[in-house]
Order: sequence, then structure tokens, then C-alpha cells
Amino acid sequence: MDINNINSDDYSLADFAGYKGEDLFEVKEAFWNFYQDAIAKGYMIYGNPISSAPVAEFNAYDRFQDHERKFLNFCSYNYLGYSFHPEVIKTVQETLARYGTGAVSAPLLSGYYDLTKKLENAIARFKDKEDAIVFSTGYGANLGTLSCLLKPGDIAVLDILSHASIHDGARLAGAEIKIFSHNNAEHLERILQSINTKRAIVCIEGIYSMDGDMVNLPDIVAVCKKYGARILLDEAHSTLIFGENGRGVAEHFGLEDQIDISIGTFSKSFGALGGFAAGDKKLITYLRMFARSYVFSCAIAPHTAAGILKIIELYQHDKSHRDQLWKNTSYMQSKLKEAGLDTGGTESQIIPVIIGSDKKLRKISKIIYDKGLYTGVVTYPAVSSKRTRLRLSMSSYHTQEQMDKCVAIIKETIDSNP
Ligand SMILES: Cc1ncc(COP(=O)(O)O)c(C=O)c1O
Repeated sequence: MDINNINSDDYSLADFAGYKGEDLFEVKEAFWNFYQDAIAKGYMIYGNPISSAPVAEFNAYDRFQDHERKFLNFCSYNYLGYSFHPEVIKTVQETLARYGTGAVSAPLLSGYYDLTKKLENAIARFKDKEDAIVFSTGYGANLGTLSCLLKPGDIAVLDILSHASIHDGARLAGAEIKIFSHNNAEHLERILQSINTKRAIVCIEGIYSMDGDMVNLPDIVAVCKKYGARILLDEAHSTLIFGENGRGVAEHFGLEDQIDISIGTFSKSFGALGGFAAGDKKLITYLRMFARSYVFSCAIAPHTAAGILKIIELYQHDKSHRDQLWKNTSYMQSKLKEAGLDTGGTESQIIPVIIGSDKKLRKISKIIYDKGLYTGVVTYPAVSSKRTRLRLSMSSYHTQEQMDKCVAIIKETIDSNP
């Protein structure tokens, strides 16, 4: 690579993740030149600041037009619209006035508030587990849990589509990582046959974040039980969406008691920030003392805890947002399919529209962006550079008109750019 003469058409982000120059900082020069060229060509649509609530239409700064404008938003994880629910906002505002803006300490010191404790208890009750620990992010929940439970030489057995936080937790632990093909219980079985399962954990997700498909939980659980392997299930995108009580995919399949560690985030359906691990009391007690992303990081703000507590209360009495989300999801899935678009194997509110090469994604994403549609534009490192995609996040607040407009923009753009 001639770093002073980079044509962004010839490279993808993957080329810079692994770039190793003579000098440690050479990578920043190389990437800067790629980045500037990509912006000049209109490819780099990431990082345009949004200046209104993450609802169905929001305002964002457009760096190409150098002003703010309105976009149709199919990108936020605000699945149930709770981030701007009036009662949640009122509770958060009242708590903010009483407790101030932040926890201002790590949880083991003075960052643990009565509201944090209440939230942990509420999560444990909600998830029907003995105990729960609240982390300041969902990323930290996976990172802290896996990195403290696994010891060097142990084995993390991961679905190939596992989230980065799961990979990173296993890596930080110094564990050996074994990958099984997506949702493939037979491949998993072959791996489990060949390892000491007493020192291994199988990590899976309820709904896979880039494809929106559901874990094949019955088969995976059966194999894990056969070989005595423990299971970590990340329900980041399935909490409040799946299961009669919203506890996720494990509840949906009636397999909750088979899951050793249940992970969740507050950054998706809860519309807030933070994450949790739920499990038996002894496990959670150990995590509290040794999960480094918990011990060495500031705790979630009391007002965030209060908002989430309010959502749990509201949700128990009223699941109409979820009902509406499911109606919107079915509508959108069928409209996209009718339009002949490739939505992969989605079974949820996360709907990918598979584009293919990185180059094609750049072109398509810029056009739909110019037309005022904001979707996830997903390429390496989140997915392979060959299966890039637009990722639509559905919400209860989308109207039929907005969904139709979204489908029309994507279809006409893809059809005219084969
Ligand atoms: C499956 C999964 N786990 C964990 C996380 C991390 O959660 P957070 O964004 O709350 O840190 C995400 C975020 O996208 C995710 O998709």
C-alpha cells in the first residue's frame, strides 16, 4: 500500500484494521488518507451527529451538504420507543434532580446506589434468576463476565456470528477460542466431543445482531447438556421482545433453567445505557469482585437505573408497544420480500438487506442517505466485506407510510444500481 496515494475504491476498512507499518503510528496516516478520499467521494456516511430524539424521523448533520436535515430513521435500537416515553422521562428527570448527573465512582467504592441495587433485584426477578449484576455497558457485561470466569487455557466455544464483546471477553481471559458454524448444533457437538467441557463455555445469542435470526436453542442446549458444557446466552436484542414475559428467547423456548449466564443490555429495547448478567447468586457474587469491566469502571448513573426500573414496571402492565413492534416487523419483512430484496434469515425486528460487496454498499448507502433514509450501513468488522448490508432496526413508532417509503427508497436504489 502506498500510503500517500490511496484510492479508497481499492481498499476496505479490513485493510486498515490489520495494517502494520514500520512505525506504530503509520497506520493513522494510511487510514487518514483513505478516510479523506472516501469522504471526498461521498462514501463515508458514518459519524454525522444527530440533533433530535431517536424517533422515526430525526435531524442529523449532513457533512456533504454542510447543513442539518431530516432523515427517516431505521437505524436506532429504540425498538419499543422507551427512550422518549413521557413517564420514563419524568422519572429520569426527577431522579436527576435528586442524585445529579452520574454515579461518579466505580460500584465497589461509592458508585453503587439504592437505585442500582433495586435495579439488580428487579432484573433478577424479571429474568427469574437468583441474582443479577449491572454493568455500565452491555459490552462490559460480556467482556467482564467472560474474562473473569475463563482462565488462560480454558475454551470459549463461540458461534461464528458472536458479538465482538464475546470474542473480546474470551480473548482478554487468554482462553482458546473455538468457533462453530452459525447455529450449527452438529458442528458444535464435534467441537464439544474433542475438548474438556468442564473448562469450557458455549456462547450464543438470542437474536443475532447483524442477521436478526434466532438461535437454534433447543438443539444447542441438548448438545451442551449431553457433554456437560455451560452456556452463556446474550439476549441483547431479544429482551422485552421475545417470550411471554419478555425475558427473551430462552423463555420463548421454555429453556431458561438450562442457561447458566444470561446477558442483556439496556441500550436496545430499554432505550438507555448499561448491561447485565443474571445467574445464580454465587456466580454473580464472584463477578462483582472480579469482573474487571465492573470493578474498574464507573457505575451506571442513578437516573439511568431509575428510568430502566420505570420501564420494567410499565412493561409488566402494558405490552402494546411490543405488539405494535411485531405488527411493524411482520409488515416490513413481507414488504421487503415482496420487493424482491434479500433479507437473509431474519426472524425479528432486525432486518438486514444484503448488498454484497463493500464497493456496492458504499454506492447504495450514499444514495439512500442522499434520499433521506438512515439505516445501519454494516461492513467489516461487524460482518464480512463480502456480505455487507443495510440493517433496518424496526420500532413500534414506525408508521405504515414510513415503512412503505423506506422500502421504496431501498428498492429503487438497488434496482437502478445492479
Ligand atoms: C449481541 C450484543 N451483545 C452486546 C452488545 C453490547 O451492548 P452495548 O451496546 O449495550 O454495550 C451488543 C450491541 O450492539 C450486541 O448486539
